Amino acid sequence: MHDTNYAEFYRRSVEAPEQFWADQARAIDWHRPWDQVLDGSRKPFARWFVGGMTNLCHNAVDRHLPERAGQPALIYVSSETGEERTYSYAELHREVQTMAASLRALGVEAGDRVLIYMPMIPEAVFAMLACARLGAVHSVVFGGFASVSLAARIDDARPRVIVSADAGSRAGKVIPYKPLLDEALRLSTHPAAQVLIVDRGLAPWDRVAGRDRSYAELRATHANDAVDCVWVDSTHPSYILYTSGTTGRPKGVQRDTGGYAVALRMSMEVIFGGRPGETYFSTSDIGWVVGHSYIVYAPLLTGMATVLYEGTPIRPDAAVLWRIVEQYRVNLMFSAPTAMRVLRRHDPALLTRHDLSSLRAIFLAGEPLDEPTGRWVAESMNKPVIDNYWQTETGWPILATPAQFPETRARFGSPGVAMPGYQVCLRNEHDGAPVAAGEKGVLAIDWPLPPGCLQTVWGDDARFVNTYWGTYPNLQVYSTFDWGRQDADGYIYILGRTDDVINVAGHRLGTREIEESVSSHAAVAEVAVVGVHDALKGQVAWAFVVPKPGQLPSGGNDALEQSIAAHVDAQLGAVARPQRIYFVSALPKTRSGKLLRRAIQAVCEGRDPGDLTTLEDPIALDQIPAAIAGA
Ligand code: PRX
Repeated sequence: MHDTNYAEFYRRSVEAPEQFWADQARAIDWHRPWDQVLDGSRKPFARWFVGGMTNLCHNAVDRHLPERAGQPALIYVSSETGEERTYSYAELHREVQTMAASLRALGVEAGDRVLIYMPMIPEAVFAMLACARLGAVHSVVFGGFASVSLAARIDDARPRVIVSADAGSRAGKVIPYKPLLDEALRLSTHPAAQVLIVDRGLAPWDRVAGRDRSYAELRATHANDAVDCVWVDSTHPSYILYTSGTTGRPKGVQRDTGGYAVALRMSMEVIFGGRPGETYFSTSDIGWVVGHSYIVYAPLLTGMATVLYEGTPIRPDAAVLWRIVEQYRVNLMFSAPTAMRVLRRHDPALLTRHDLSSLRAIFLAGEPLDEPTGRWVAESMNKPVIDNYWQTETGWPILATPAQFPETRARFGSPGVAMPGYQVCLRNEHDGAPVAAGEKGVLAIDWPLPPGCLQTVWGDDARFVNTYWGTYPNLQVYSTFDWGRQDADGYIYILGRTDDVINVAGHRLGTREIEESVSSHAAVAEVAVVGVHDALKGQVAWAFVVPKPGQLPSGGNDALEQSIAAHVDAQLGAVARPQRIYFVSALPKTRSGKLLRRAIQAVCEGRDPGDLTTLEDPIALDQIPAAIAGA
């Protein structure tokens, strides 16, 4: 890599992608070299490093042992339980083998799925890496999701084993996981999986005989077992991560092995500027894509130490993140704009109470970074704040200003320019024609997506093709479902989603999933859920509910609102609970019965709802502001 400027580096990545990615792939250990860098014989699918064999766990753990056995690999900090523990690469290697031996004892083999429903504890990382070691496919489900969300994922992934824990803890409150898992398994149609419980001693749990095992027992049995890495094809799936889309049914984003390893290793060096032996701290959760890529895989593939943090940014006080930076000499940090907006509500002196001299930059992603927040962090901490834009589907940044090329460092409001291999183009929503500089268009990516991006939708190739590549039937382009605008220098500004996905505090949620849950409440006839701008969380969900006749409980609207909120909590998890629930007698629809969510959203945000000529009953839209004002 001898390029002196980013434009040249990027140009090589798109003009000669096979050469470019073959060069990058040298940073990874291969058991067998690839025959073909890119197989595009079945577009829009793209298979990277075909014929090559490797293993993600080998590259994340074993390959570092000769040089870094004693170096920190995983730094666990829980401000919930007070635990702090550092695992060296040698200790991580040991723990991962023990977990792998335990999973194997439960029958897990290459290609089997293992569902991981865990709080932020080291065993969650051991389980992910153990799956990779065995060639098993992990599917981590965010611990904030509840039984119905979990059951849908179990049914789709059909795991042989589910690894979970007695409980998590959030803001000092114990959140039992096991009852939610029991309920999910009761709802699931998948024949009983084996369950492995990491007992933290936080909450009592019932053991289902023949199904549930305590990890402590297996760990003791397999404490000294050696488990070799299983070499798998580069295109072998490494994991499934479910994400929300336009329909109520979450999509299983399926990732490969070799392409992901190569892309993440490159991204850590070029985009984040991370080097072996340094310490990386991402405040995300392993249940989200940032946790997969930038808590677990990219730092470890690079031979860095990674911080796994269980806790909130404001407990015991709003300096806790910076205390961790100081104590562990963190070099690079990755967080979300909401976390920074939360900190901004606290004493600014807390930002500089600790010695932050080790910290080189703060990366923020997952939702729009508003300029005041970006400036505030940069100025009060005197550190570069680097926005980056991407998706669960892509696994690593699409847009950023790469640390290795500081000349790209730009302006607040734009995450930056296209990252290597991404041929980004803003297109007209109707015919896919490129829009002019400065005009709004759908952010699309020309085939092929670079290594590391989704291979397909788990078990549903047709959905992959139709959803992501079907927007413009005559073009081979991937749609991100985000609106964007590009300036004359190539910097792109993100202007929100084109679909019904909302982003609450950096958490991606489908309004249709929330609608399905609300409408399964016995008293609900119809519902519309929309995302409404919120100064702290970016967006929040508001629900407009038409109750069934005669279903208003004796407590009136308030009681029904509480009952619906509790219903969503139990089904999907509090993360999906609408912030407000309003009652109306009809919802605004077109004459053909299509719900006008965009018009509702506009009215909620005090904007002009636009063209209403197709509206069936104008009164229905007038009820929205009336309901908000009356509440
Ligand atoms: O709408 C975009 C928004 O979050 C979506 C992807 O969310 P998720 O799949 O959870 O992946 C997050 C990976 C960081 C995108 O389609 N989004 C993500 N990053 C940004 C963003 N919007 C604006 N600016 C960003 N930096």
